[in-house]
Amino acid sequence: MKTISPNINWVASVHLALSLFGLPYVAGTSGFCRKNALGRISSLCSSASVYMSPAAPVKARCPVYPGSDTHRFLVSDDKVDWDTDWPQYSPVNYTAPTVLKKPVWADPEIGAFSPQFNSLDGSVDRRSHEGPYHIQNGKPLNPHGRTGLEGRGLLGRWGPNHAADPIVTRWKRDSTGQLVLHTNSQLPVLQFVSIKRLDCGEWAIPGGMVDPGERISQTLQREFSEEALNSLQASPSEREETQKRITELFDSAGLQVYKGYVDDPRNTDNAWMETVAVNFHDESGNSVSELPLQAGDDAGQVSWIDVDSSLDLYANHLHFLETVAKERNAHW
Ligand SMILES: *[C@@H]1O[C@H](CO)[C@@H](O)[C@H](O)[C@H]1NC(C)=O
Repeated sequence: MKTISPNINWVASVHLALSLFGLPYVAGTSGFCRKNALGRISSLCSSASVYMSPAAPVKARCPVYPGSDTHRFLVSDDKVDWDTDWPQYSPVNYTAPTVLKKPVWADPEIGAFSPQFNSLDGSVDRRSHEGPYHIQNGKPLNPHGRTGLEGRGLLGRWGPNHAADPIVTRWKRDSTGQLVLHTNSQLPVLQFVSIKRLDCGEWAIPGGMVDPGERISQTLQREFSEEALNSLQASPSEREETQKRITELFDSAGLQVYKGYVDDPRNTDNAWMETVAVNFHDESGNSVSELPLQAGDDAGQVSWIDVDSSLDLYANHLHFLETVAKERNAHW
């Protein structure tokens, strides 16, 4: 049986205060819904199977750049590699107006500005999880090859743009506290904390960008706390108790599920997404498992969602969950 502290009156109603639409940058590794970003174009772009294919960043070659009318210069599979000689290559130069306005999260244009690439540049970490990347004419080159578009598009940083994805899980239990076994696999079912994106209604992991000077472990906890806590209509003392539980869970050893390049539709020749995905699991069921996150009719919800291979989720997130399920010997 799980126990619930009597002084905590969990409220079932959940509202996500964090704005997930508007500036795509804040939405972490899954800045765009497939329909919006990749609508009206080839099925190649929304195929889940291409995630983390080592050579060809397929999403980064969807013809229309997200949030714009800009068409990428067409790059065939055999021309993706920078080592393949291609004198005719003439990528479109595009940096979104929101980025050119120089918000705090964005670099200036290269020229007067020459950042320390491949190193910790002041408080901005410009190192790639995948090792050193090349610089050409003062600009970093996407380590996964040509994308048909130069500049930064919607991304703020030249080179790697670091995100973190916290995957918080618990075991699914019945009303008596017993683990629920899946009828097909006979394996226990995991549930993870998921947010419903306001722009397209797709479920996603509540990830976000790493702030300058922030450790990834801090980002993981901050993003989760912001989204989970903002979603609760709770009194200050309830919030404090919830924050304490979250801190305890995130102080425990997480299971690193992925670290590296993300095949993101916002990637360009000179700017790309990278992430670290870490699983924090409440094994006993008496920590964050009690967060009363529930589905409702409102847009922007936070919920415990059953982990299952049939989930309709952003492709790389589905892959992270598969890894978690297999590592924990759970139903998939
Ligand atoms: C690309 O566009 C930006 C502004 O969007 C401009 O500052 C820059 O000079 C352009 N680069 C090239 C190579 O044309």
